[in-house]
Amino acid sequence: MINSKLLDAPSADGLWHNLRLLDTDALLRGELATTPGVIAVQGGHVAYTGPAEGLPPDLLTRGARHDGGGALVTPGLVDCHTHLIYGGDRAGEFAMRLAGASYEDIARAGGGIVSTVKATRAATEEELFAAAAPRLQALLAEGVSAIEIKSGYGLATAHERKQLRVARRLGAHHGVTVKTTFLGAHALPPEFDARPDDYIDHVCQHMLPELAAEGLIDAVDVFCERIGFTLAQTEQVLRAARLLGLPVKLHAEQLSDMDGAALAARHGALSCDHLEHLSAHGIAAMKEAGSVAVLLPGAYYTLRDTHLPPIAALREAGVPIAISTDHNPGTSPALSLLLMVNMACTLFKLTVAEALAGVTVHAAQALGLQATHGRIAAGMPAHFVLWPLQEPAELAYWLGQRPVCRVVRGGRIVE
Ligand code: NIG
Ligand code: FE
Repeated sequence: MINSKLLDAPSADGLWHNLRLLDTDALLRGELATTPGVIAVQGGHVAYTGPAEGLPPDLLTRGARHDGGGALVTPGLVDCHTHLIYGGDRAGEFAMRLAGASYEDIARAGGGIVSTVKATRAATEEELFAAAAPRLQALLAEGVSAIEIKSGYGLATAHERKQLRVARRLGAHHGVTVKTTFLGAHALPPEFDARPDDYIDHVCQHMLPELAAEGLIDAVDVFCERIGFTLAQTEQVLRAARLLGLPVKLHAEQLSDMDGAALAARHGALSCDHLEHLSAHGIAAMKEAGSVAVLLPGAYYTLRDTHLPPIAALREAGVPIAISTDHNPGTSPALSLLLMVNMACTLFKLTVAEALAGVTVHAAQALGLQATHGRIAAGMPAHFVLWPLQEPAELAYWLGQRPVCRVVRGGRIVE
């Protein structure tokens, strides 16, 4: 595939010095710490990172020198839950909610997800690409190096294919790692009105295997909810995914406790996402399975939700917590991962260390990308961000002001 934008960008090979490196191991112990150091990049990969004194002599003299000017350096960020590709917007629905309608009321009246499905079906692949590209660019400008993009606004094979193809093309064009997630079971399409079981059969027997065979699907997700699909329907989709060897994730326990997280965990879920109504039983199952809890403060905020996810219990159980934008036109029209870090701290009471682990190490884990993203380490591809900031806490602190950062993504200097 042609990485057009990335191939135009200069190589980051050489020695990056005069850096203050955010210590990701310390983040996992709940501490915010930076250490002065360097990063040597060779062939697009990190050859060494750590104190300048420890640099192997052959790397000292090899290649260009890049002065970091004392910048704070983090791994490239990871946005592990988005619905980035869709037609239209839902500003009108936002106004209806301000006037008192609930998300569920609007969905039951035929609005919500289904209205975005209409607009997405009406759009061509080119139009969807053109609409999503600036959204992706906004996230990339804040140092995102990997992003998950879900389908789920097509709800028919041809239209789901269109979304997934656009996701692949965006990744290739912008030189960013894109993980695609098939969310065919997001809502009931009009042609299956009142026949949800038939639709789930169609998803499992046709849509999922066909699109998987085309190499368009990296993982499978379901909206398990009163206004989505039942636990039994969810299980049918998760089983079909596992039979195809695909990892699963779940929109679980957002509006009510459906016991979805425990089900997904039994299928080895990479992550369970939203989780406002997660039970102790669900937490235990996620811990056992090693599933990441992906928290989505943008949706919580936009829906003016007041039911907090069980943060203290997740922390106590040692379930890894990730934070994401959940970018979508209905419940989270957010295009700043740092704003989500801020909201995770202010609304969900995460510590800054937890929130930063949530957009690096744990977000990479939620996508199965822990070998290549979320840390800066010898042997991994070079994805890192130089921030003009003194304190790591500033990554959570500034509100609506994007620090202008320098970004190395996939071994190239891109922003
Ligand atoms: O993650 N909850 C279901 N899916 C999306 C919202 C989709 C929409 O409203 O368009 C979410 O919040
Ligand atoms: Fe979502």
